[in-house]
Order: sequence, then C-alpha cells, then structure tokens
Amino acid sequence: MRIAMIGSGYVGLVSGACLADFGHEVVCIDKDPTKIAALNEGRMPIYEPGLDALVAENVRQKRLAFSTDLKPAVAGAQAVFIAVGTPSRRGDGFADLSYVYAAAREIAEALTGYAVVVTKSTVPVGTGDEVERILREARPDLDIGVASNPEFLREGAAIGDFKRPDRIVIGAEDARAAAVMQEVYRPLYLNQAPILFTGRRTAELTKYAANAFLATKITFINEIADLCEQVGANVQEVARGIGLDNRIGAKFLHAGPGYGGSCFPKDTLALVKTAQDYGTPVRIVETVVAVNDQRKRAMARKVIAACGGSVRGKRVALLGLTFKPNTDDMRDAPSLSIIAGLQDAGARIVAYDPEGMEQARPLLQGVDYAEDAYACAEGADALVIVTEWNAFRALDLARLKAMMAAPVLVDLRNVYAPDEARRHGLRHVGVGALASRD
Ligand SMILES: NC(=O)c1ccc[n+]([C@@H]2O[C@H](COP(=O)([O-])OP(=O)(O)OC[C@H]3O[C@@H](n4cnc5c(N)ncnc54)[C@H](O)[C@@H]3O)[C@@H](O)[C@H]2O)c1
Repeated sequence: MRIAMIGSGYVGLVSGACLADFGHEVVCIDKDPTKIAALNEGRMPIYEPGLDALVAENVRQKRLAFSTDLKPAVAGAQAVFIAVGTPSRRGDGFADLSYVYAAAREIAEALTGYAVVVTKSTVPVGTGDEVERILREARPDLDIGVASNPEFLREGAAIGDFKRPDRIVIGAEDARAAAVMQEVYRPLYLNQAPILFTGRRTAELTKYAANAFLATKITFINEIADLCEQVGANVQEVARGIGLDNRIGAKFLHAGPGYGGSCFPKDTLALVKTAQDYGTPVRIVETVVAVNDQRKRAMARKVIAACGGSVRGKRVALLGLTFKPNTDDMRDAPSLSIIAGLQDAGARIVAYDPEGMEQARPLLQGVDYAEDAYACAEGADALVIVTEWNAFRALDLARLKAMMAAPVLVDLRNVYAPDEARRHGLRHVGVGALASRD
C-alpha cells in the first residue's frame, strides 16, 4: 500500500517507519524543514531506542522516504495518516486542533483518487466529523473515507508497542474505509493482535478513556503513598499487595513525583473539557488533574524538608530531567515544576540526564549541567532522583556519599532500598515510606 504520514514527530516517525517495515511504501511529511533534512541525512530528530536502525533499513529498502512536500506524497496514497500535535490550547486547556485542521485542508487539495484519511493524533470526540466536513467542503468531488486510529505506543518502547500492540482500535463509519484500514494492519492481524472495529466517535473516546484511566491509577497510588508516609506503611508493599489481584494489575502502581509527559497532562485536561461541554462532567478525572498538578510542586517541598527546611544557597543535584526514562521528551516533565519550586526557595540546581539535556536547556534558566551522575553529585547538599534511567539504578552509593557536601538522597522513584542507602551513609527519603534515620 502507499501511505502518507503527515507529521513526523514521536508518533508519526515511529508509525511511518513501522508501517514501512510491514512492507508498505511510506512517505513521512513534516513542515519542519530541519527535521526532514536531518532524517534525509540519516540523523534522528528524536531519541527513541532502535529507531535509527529501523529507519535506515527501510530507507535502504526504498520503502520509507521523508519530505516537506505533502502534495506528491498524498496524491496516489491509499491511506493518509494525520499524526500532528494536539497540545493543550493556551487559556482553556482544550485540545488545540489547529494543526489537525490545517493538515486536513492541505490533504484535501492534494488528494487524487479514493483514500482514507486517518486521524492518528489524539483528538476529542467529533474531530473526525469536522475533518470530514473540511475535506468535503474543500473538495465536494472527493471520494474519501475518514477513520480514527488512535495510537497507544509509549515513548521509550515505541517500536515494540507499534509492532506488538495490545490492541489496535479503528473507528470507521463505512465498510470500504474499514477494509483499507484492515489492509494497513494486515501484517499484525497475522500476529493475532486484536483489532477492534468501532464507530469513529467511540475510537476517539477510547484513547482519552485509556489515558485518563492510567493517569487515575498513578494518582491513586500517589495519594496512597502520602498516606503511607503518615501512617508508617510502605507503598511499594501495598502496591504489590493490590497489584497481584488480577482485577487491579501491577502496572502503573509505582508511586512517584506525579505523571508528566506529552500525553497524560493534556489528554486528561481535554477529556475534562469535552465532558463539561457535553454536560456530563468526569469528576474523578477533574480531581486527578488537580491532585497531580499540586503533587509536582509538593515534590520540591519534599526536597526542602529533606534538607532540613531550607535550601537557600544550597546545591541541589537532580538526576533525570525527562518525564520518563528512554526518551528525550521534556514536555510537562515533573522536573520542570520541581526545579522551579527549588529555585524559588533559593537553591542552586545542577542536573544530569542521559538524553534530555538538549531539550531541557531552552526550558530551564539558571541550571548547571553535569557530564554524568557523579559530576552532578559533587559537592551537592542533596541528590534527587527524578527520573529512573537505568544509569541511575546501580550507582556507587559510597562514592556518592564521599563526594557530596551532605549525605541526603531524595529518591522520588524508590530506586534504592532505604537500608542499602543507609549502609553507605546516605539518608534516604523515598516516596510512600518513612524516611530512613541518619
Ligand atoms: N508522544 C506519544 O507518546 C504519543 C502517544 C500516543 C499518541 N500521541 C498523539 O499523537 C499526536 C502527535 O504527537 P507527537 O508526540 O508525535 O507530536 P510531535 O510534536 O512530536 O510531532 C508532531 C509533528 O507534526 C508536525 N506538523 C504539524 N503540522 C503539520 C502539517 N500541517 N504538516 C506536516 N507536519 C506537521 C510538527 O512539525 C511535528 O514535527 C498527538 O495528538 C499526541 O497526543 C502521542
């Protein structure tokens, strides 16, 4: 099949490369010329494990190409995916659909024969209807289908998720469009990945319901963690105790600094707005959004408390800036709020992240960057683990203790056992358990 992918970011690039790997002929389009130039020179504009090799192989096989020119890629394509950003709109928090609608207008001008236009971007219920209206209004002559195919991949594990998905959701309003979508995913069908065919609005809402549920699960265990700290219980053991119940499941029960990233914050907010507009508020999700917002800054207060109540003039070292490991994505990362809270309280911040420092620089002022975890900890009054990169899982704690000005380890991801830290002379302050004593 010939496929055009509009938008070559975290989702478009991975999806395009994987679809090419299935044997389709894919052109990935982006309006950012620097991204396309980098891709054409074999450089990845984002960090995603395994992506460079996958892209290189499919470019070599001539199944994958990159361009800023949408027209020739869309003309003759049987499926045109829209994978542009849908960030929170400034002011009201609703999803900003301007990129989606702009892409739809460009696609309308370029289409030649029958094609299915597919929204892969996360879009509020009814966006597919509006995309169809835009296409038909611009080109009443067009023979098209409009489908919704929300993406569930996780950054950091995106290729595996795309190739071996838990499920594929396809929202189509007619059999012809559904048949094209079935053909797109036929290689996965052979792998027995469940494909759910639904109405378009159902598919659109399924994506928001999934992200809101996961965000709720994280926020639930975070609140239980706070309670654990007060009552002298241990949240990791509570999480294991409930997670072994199949009805609950063990995933997304790791207490931490609050969820961040490019999806959960904006998608929970957009769902709240949609539900309010339809007169059926989702109060649980409203609460999740509020609790999570407060939590990120509360983590700065946790660090301040661990430093004896003041960080003024102190050097606080942060390990991990990205919202999770194995990505360079800094969008809505908890580190941003934590750093702001610490700087407001007078701390000097030094930080290290294996992949995220380039994206972090324009977002942060007054932060020093270190070359590695140990250089970061040198002379620090507290070391804070914000993101659980593998590189931070087996640090030499005795070495850290020897080089720090004060032996305080604030472990916001519960990477280290308090006893282990204490054995090496560090005071361990985790999430959801009593802090270890000096
Ligand atoms: N990042 C994730 O993990 C993830 C997972 C599932 C779903 N999603 C959803 O997928 C969508 C894309 O997310 P992302 O993280 O890939 O965003 P991104 O910002 O990394 O990529 C979007 C790309 O689209 C390009 N673009 C915008 N308008 C364009 C146009 N008219 N023509 C060509 N290119 C255009 C931008 O230049 C950018 O490179 C969002 O709706 C997001 O919610 C993201």
